[in-house]
Amino acid sequence: MKRRRRLRVNETIRSLVRETSLQISELVYPIFVMEGENIKNPVDSMLGIYQFSLDRLEEELLRILDSGVKSILIFGIPSHKDELGSEAYNMDGITQKAIRFIKSKYPEFIVIADICLCEYTSHGHCGVIKEGKVLNDETLPLLSKMAVTCAKSGADIIAPSDMMDGHIGAIRQALDEHDYIDTVIMAYSAKYSSGYYSPFRDAAHSAPSFGDRKTYQMDYGNVKEAIREIKDDIDEGADIVMVKPALAYLDVIKTAALETEYPIAAYNVSGEYAMVKAAAINGWIDEKKIVMENMVAMKRAGANIIITYHALDVANWLKEK
Ligand code: PBG
Ligand code: ZN
Repeated sequence: MKRRRRLRVNETIRSLVRETSLQISELVYPIFVMEGENIKNPVDSMLGIYQFSLDRLEEELLRILDSGVKSILIFGIPSHKDELGSEAYNMDGITQKAIRFIKSKYPEFIVIADICLCEYTSHGHCGVIKEGKVLNDETLPLLSKMAVTCAKSGADIIAPSDMMDGHIGAIRQALDEHDYIDTVIMAYSAKYSSGYYSPFRDAAHSAPSFGDRKTYQMDYGNVKEAIREIKDDIDEGADIVMVKPALAYLDVIKTAALETEYPIAAYNVSGEYAMVKAAAINGWIDEKKIVMENMVAMKRAGANIIITYHALDVANWLKEK
């Protein structure tokens, strides 16, 4: 008889042979920064997540530092929106101001700037609109300008989430031309058109006012297409590639891990977070157990980096042990 239970006798031996580990340094925490004063608004659909004005951001930064999480992903919510999303690439836009504030106070943070127009456009789409269509090539210079202004403000990593074709190449070229040769690009390569983003759209005020994002985000029936997107982004200069959402797409993470030598980030998105929090608050699941199992599942599938709203809780639980 094979005695498989021998390696399960106690936690010490289980941890000796455990194949997958999880470290605080692999976690990225998203934050929402809003124009205005004295704001700490709870996001109803994302328990424990708030929108902060800059003057209230420090308390959150201290909470992050205290957890040991070092990487943060910034989403700016402007007070002015227009057709071309001009606040996205304004040096005095909320995102640029937030990056400068964070890097001047706590330069040890790795600051990641989400590059997209949907939070800044009046129509809520990720690109320039003409006659109801999202134009690809006309959007690229605006994304490039946003990337350069964020790099200039001190962003360490630029994370384009718009899903326009050729965006990574255009942004890499613009960064290089402005001498930001060391600014990393983390591409949202395999970003699916997903129902799991709806709590985020409440948090970031970025829901499209008409139609959906299916002409630019990926169809969830596809996995080979994800590999094409990842390869294109790497050819165009991406340093890190991403799969998003994560938990409903573990097969995509796994395939990506087998097909590429580049670091892979998994974005455990707002809807995935909201479902766990809703069940936990009702006492239907044990939050810590479920969250840790989900985190290890993403790592086991092949993710190297996990972007998650649970990041601070996970970091604090990892330290308890
Ligand atoms: C912006 C963007 C979105 C998310 C990250 N960047 C929303 C969208 O594409 O509609 C979703 C993140 C989440 O749901 O947690 N393009
Ligand atoms: Zn967008």
